[in-house]
Amino acid sequence: MPMASHAQSETGSRLKAGWALTAAWQAKARSKPKPKTDWSAYAETYDLLLEYNPAYQELLREFESFLSEADAPRVIYDVGGGTGNYSQIATRRYPESSVYFIEPDRGMRLRAKEKLSAHDNVIFIDRPLQEVEPPVKADLVICAHALYTMPAPQDRLVELRNILRPGGLLFLVDVGRPLKVAEWRTYLLSHLMREFGVVKATKIFWKGREIASQNKAIFKAQMANLYWTHSGAEIASATKKAGFEIMSQKTAYRGYSDLLLCRAAS
Ligand SMILES: C[S@@+](CC[C@H](N)C(=O)[O-])C[C@H]1O[C@@H](n2cnc3c(N)ncnc32)[C@H](O)[C@@H]1O
Repeated sequence: MPMASHAQSETGSRLKAGWALTAAWQAKARSKPKPKTDWSAYAETYDLLLEYNPAYQELLREFESFLSEADAPRVIYDVGGGTGNYSQIATRRYPESSVYFIEPDRGMRLRAKEKLSAHDNVIFIDRPLQEVEPPVKADLVICAHALYTMPAPQDRLVELRNILRPGGLLFLVDVGRPLKVAEWRTYLLSHLMREFGVVKATKIFWKGREIASQNKAIFKAQMANLYWTHSGAEIASATKKAGFEIMSQKTAYRGYSDLLLCRAAS
């Protein structure tokens, strides 16, 4: 049956060609660089958020008010501490406390070291959370806008729980929704124009262009499922599963983030 065998061999070679195309496509997808945030580049202008972003300033006020109501913590961990804005507030309020500052990015760490240089009791740890052996148990853990960038966030939440003594507190704020860069641009630009006028607003915007660029990278990583996106209910459930009691929870950062105050279950 020459016709049949010819048809079979044609089908076979079409299949082979199809597989080759699929394999080539998969190899291309694998070799495509993964979207990645350049935290050191971000660090250069990160503190423009501190100076000019009311939503970021609001988070710091939330942290200050949380601290004013908590018992004085002896040992604090700031996980993914960035340029040190939360630790600065903590060390000002509690200069006697020890702060373990976990920050794997050199650029971020250098900024934080400068900022916290007046305090002798800050210990800098230059590794990611998943590689840290906590030397002591904490009374307070701060994890602000860092968890969603970490691999396997559920496991990281368990590590945050294990750093704490039973009854210790976690101040957790995490970006959960995709960061819409154009929406932020409109919000910030109109705020800056109202506050400073067109000329200064444009200058600040130009200075902060790296922030927009890194936020685009964050958005891409969120879309590629490399960064965790979550609803309030999802982060609440993950936090409880890791062994925390949630004392309070609300949305923050213009609806993009969730803010949870938690206690490590005994
Ligand atoms: C958006 S910044 C937040 C900085 C600071 N907490 C704040 O809110 O101003 C996220 C930080 O998480 C850090 N980070 C990323 N992966 C981490 C990990 N696995 N362990 C600890 N920190 C991490 C980054 O280097 C970066 O400085």
